[in-house]
Amino acid sequence: MRAMTLDAYGLNPQLTERPTPLPGPREVLVRVRATSVNPIDWKQASGKARPILSAKFPGFIPGYDLAGEVEAVGSGVTSFVKGQRVHTRLSGTAGGASAELVLAKLDVLRPMPEKMDFAQAAGLPLAGMTALQGLRDACKLPMSGATQRVLVIGASGGVGHLAVQIARSTGAHVVGVCSGKNGALVKRIGAHEVIDYTKPEPYQGQAPFDVIFDCVGSAPGDCLKLLSAHGRFSSCLPGPGVFAHAALNLVRAKKVLPVLLSANAADLGVLDGLFEKGALGVVVDSRFPLAELGAAWARSASGRAAGKIIVDV
Ligand SMILES: NC(=O)c1ccc[n+]([C@@H]2O[C@H](COP(=O)([O-])OP(=O)(O)OC[C@H]3O[C@@H](n4cnc5c(N)ncnc54)[C@H](OP(=O)(O)O)[C@@H]3O)[C@@H](O)[C@H]2O)c1
Repeated sequence: MRAMTLDAYGLNPQLTERPTPLPGPREVLVRVRATSVNPIDWKQASGKARPILSAKFPGFIPGYDLAGEVEAVGSGVTSFVKGQRVHTRLSGTAGGASAELVLAKLDVLRPMPEKMDFAQAAGLPLAGMTALQGLRDACKLPMSGATQRVLVIGASGGVGHLAVQIARSTGAHVVGVCSGKNGALVKRIGAHEVIDYTKPEPYQGQAPFDVIFDCVGSAPGDCLKLLSAHGRFSSCLPGPGVFAHAALNLVRAKKVLPVLLSANAADLGVLDGLFEKGALGVVVDSRFPLAELGAAWARSASGRAAGKIIVDV
């Protein structure tokens, strides 16, 4: 089978021939139809994420999100059958998604909703679970009947555009922060209001917010000023400031929390359920063939993607 591989840290993966993996106990071999790019892919491949996230060479296969069809199942697997359409964020930190055939563990694999296509199914897992866990677990946003005022910073990005839709589905009042060119998109996917971060004093007259979910690495000090008295700020790009503020949480009414994704099939199921209800969809920024994974990474590294970058396999 073919896979995109790297033999050393860098941003130029090559198409190579690799042995077909065999599924072990509680594993499923998936014939991949699409993967999606997440910034962690190129941060890990380039070495930028070291030492938190290293890569194993030679033959490192990058990527975490995938959608495809079951090719074979290992022992103890009764819930998936050959040909079934599935999607996942691969577990662990070893990557592996940028290949024609990939082993997935049972605890992170889900059947795809019937009406979901492979691009949407590949775009949803990592970014969607990060948004869900940030809003529901870190920010304690109730999944229905929410009355909170929610600010999503980076509302047009891979994580942010899903956060806008998840927050909207709870009943919350959603305000999305994006540049002017993405304002219409962010409104179309469900934001009640948009704030253009390129304008001077963008937050004047907008506070307070009960929940702030940040996808761009905003300074916690700035966000704390925008929070209501018992509000919660959570960042999926936490710097040292977020961890320092988080350590003081016990003595503060306002909470600051980092989000570190924990992939699991149950949360992917929550996202699939929102899709089936028509409350959630993946916006596709661009599509690349597998052999052009490096170009897909360059698009992601530009920081300008609106929605998800899909790689067709
Ligand atoms: N902690 C975790 O477990 C976890 C999980 C997933 C992702 N992450 C991290 O979270 C970050 C976001 O991921 P992503 O996939 O959403 O990235 P992304 O899709 O590459 O984000 C790009 C988007 O960010 C917008 N943006 C850039 N600067 C902005 C600003 N100052 N204010 C508002 N919007 C801005 C861009 O819009 P414009 O073109 O209009 O600027 C663009 O639409 C990444 O750093 C990623 O590594 C962490």
